[in-house]
Amino acid sequence: MGFYVDRIVPRIIEFSCGPKATGTHRRRVCQGLAGEVVEIGFGTGYNVAHYPAAVTRVAAVEPSDASWKLAARRVDGSGVPVERSGLDGQRLPFADHSFDAALSTWTLCTIPDPGAALRELRRVLRPGGTLHFVEHGLAPDERVRRWQRRLEPLQKRLMGGCRLTTPIADTLTGAGFTIADMDVFYERGPKVTGAYSLGVAVSP
Ligand SMILES: C[S@@+](CC[C@H](N)C(=O)[O-])C[C@H]1O[C@@H](n2cnc3c(N)ncnc32)[C@H](O)[C@@H]1O
Repeated sequence: MGFYVDRIVPRIIEFSCGPKATGTHRRRVCQGLAGEVVEIGFGTGYNVAHYPAAVTRVAAVEPSDASWKLAARRVDGSGVPVERSGLDGQRLPFADHSFDAALSTWTLCTIPDPGAALRELRRVLRPGGTLHFVEHGLAPDERVRRWQRRLEPLQKRLMGGCRLTTPIADTLTGAGFTIADMDVFYERGPKVTGAYSLGVAVSP
């Protein structure tokens, strides 16, 4: 990874994904998390403030050292123990069926093979374990999709590989998850980046 992706992109994420822009969605997606939780693409730790008291431990998976450093203040102040436990969501260093729940917020867009990451989450979740997610991806409308396809190469260059056209529901079900609840909506602002899917999927 180069200087821009290593050092600048984490700061752009820290600046643009803070509580004002995303707090409502983070609060909503974290509701119902309990027990041992794995969070992929932990980023700068903005979900920490929303972990319910029923969460006993969070294993954070995050490749970026700069993001982990920016997260330090939130991790240190967390009422729930959080440990950086892995670097790549596509290859999780955990035993089968070792977590009660998983969390992914705006991460499947950036992981090179999101299907592989979801299959790994299925492996480490206990049967009946839940994945709580809010992701941006392929828009419901063809007109917006056309713009997403046009702008995706630029987005990938500027945002460390972030894609605009990940088909969230299909990727979840393709990895064997059952979608228990999902809300698909446009966020305020540009629809190309703001086609959100927020919900809970179950590992059968
Ligand atoms: C758009 S940011 C979202 C960060 C955080 N989840 C949030 O909600 O603020 C995407 C995150 O995915 C991380 N990421 C990239 N590749 C990854 C991988 N292979 N496994 C796990 N996380 C990855 C990035 O370092 C970055 O922190």
